[in-house]
Amino acid sequence: MAAIVFSNIGELTTNDPTVGDESVLGRIKDAALVIEDGRVVWSGPTAIAPAADTEIDVEGAAIIPGFVDSHTHLVFAGERSEEFAARMAGQRYDGGGIMNTVAATRAATKDELRENTQQRVDALRAHGVTTIEMKSGYDLTLDGEFRLCEVASEFTEEVTFLGAHVVPAEFKDRRDEYVALVAGEMLEQCAPLVRWADVFCDQGAFSVDEARFILTRAKEKGLALRLHGNQLGNTGGIELAVELDAASVDHCTYVSEADVEALAGSNTVATLLPGAEFSTKSEYPSGRYLLDAGAQLALATDCNPGTSYVTNMGLIIALAVREMGLSVDEALYAATMGGAKALRRSDIGHLRPGAKADLAILSVAKAAHFAYQPGASLVRAVHIGGENSAFWG
Ligand code: NIG
Ligand code: FE
Repeated sequence: MAAIVFSNIGELTTNDPTVGDESVLGRIKDAALVIEDGRVVWSGPTAIAPAADTEIDVEGAAIIPGFVDSHTHLVFAGERSEEFAARMAGQRYDGGGIMNTVAATRAATKDELRENTQQRVDALRAHGVTTIEMKSGYDLTLDGEFRLCEVASEFTEEVTFLGAHVVPAEFKDRRDEYVALVAGEMLEQCAPLVRWADVFCDQGAFSVDEARFILTRAKEKGLALRLHGNQLGNTGGIELAVELDAASVDHCTYVSEADVEALAGSNTVATLLPGAEFSTKSEYPSGRYLLDAGAQLALATDCNPGTSYVTNMGLIIALAVREMGLSVDEALYAATMGGAKALRRSDIGHLRPGAKADLAILSVAKAAHFAYQPGASLVRAVHIGGENSAFWG
C-alpha cells in the first residue's frame, strides 16, 4: 500500500513519550504523520516530513489515536427509556431490567440484531472509536448466547462471552444449574468465537465464588478475563479481578482502600464507565483517587440499553473530567491508551512507529475540545489500519 502523509496537523497526540513535548501524550504541534501498509511509520514536525505517495492536508486540525472502547454491549434489541425515566425520578438501578432486554433480544432475528449493531458501530465510529470490545449477555440460553457471539464477531475481534450477566428468570430457583451451564456447555460452545470471558459480579447478579468458578473455567479454555465489578456495592469484584489477573475490572463505582491497593500493584486496568453513573443517577467514583494511588485507568462507553445508552466517547471524556477528577489529558489518554491496555493490545491506542494506523481527524485544532464542548460532534474522519473507513463533511 502506498505511503500517506497527513500534513498540517495543528496538534498531533501520539501517546509516544519519546516525541514532541515528551509528555505521556507525546504531543507535536504543526505536525505530520506518515503511514504505510496500514502502520504508522513516522511522526514529527510538518517542516521535515518525509515525502509520501499521497498527501492529506488536514489544514490545522488535531489528530488523535482512535478511541479504544473496551466495554460495550452492542448486540441487543429493544429499548428501556421508561426504566431510565423512572431512575431519573429516584428509582434505584438493580439490574432487574436486563431481563426486558433479554426478552426483546431473544425475539429478534439475526438480521435485526446485525442491523442494530451496525447502527451502533457507525455511531461509535462517528465519534472516533476505531476498536470496539463487544459482549454477549442479552440472551442467556445456550444457542442464543452463541448467536450473539456470532453477530459480535462479524464486527470485531474483541468479543466477550457474558453468559453470566444475570441468572435468567427460568433458572430463578436453580441458580447452581445456570452457573454450571454457563461454565460448561455454554462456554464450550462460545469459546471458539471469543477472546474474552466476563461475569457481572455484583449484588443481584453473581457472587465472587460463582464468578471465580466461571472465570477459572474460562481461563482453562484459553480465554482471557475481564469482570464487571463493584457497580452496585463493595462486593469483592475488584479483588477477584486482580486475583485472577483479569485484563480489566469495569465500573469500580464503589472502591475500598483494599481495592485500590490491589489495583495499584497489578496488571489489571480499572475501567471507568461514567455513562453508567450518569444514566443510573449514581455517585461517580474518583478517577483522581485511583490514578494518584497508582492504578491504571481506562474510559469506555459501556454502551447498553439499560445503564448507559451512550455512543459518544467525547461525552465520556467530558464526564470523566467534570465528575471524576481527571485532567483533560488524563481522560484522553484513558480513552485511547487506557482502552488498549484494558484489551492487552500494544498495537493500538498510540501512534508510535509500528502502531496500527487507527486514528481520528478532528474538526477542531485541539483534542481538549472533547471536554470543552461536551457532546459535540468533533470527529471529521477516522482511518482504521490506514483505510479511510468513514468521513463526515
Ligand atoms: O455494564 N451491569 C451490568 N451490565 C450492564 C447493564 C446491563 C443492563 O442493565 O442492561 C452494565 O451496566
Ligand atoms: Fe457493562
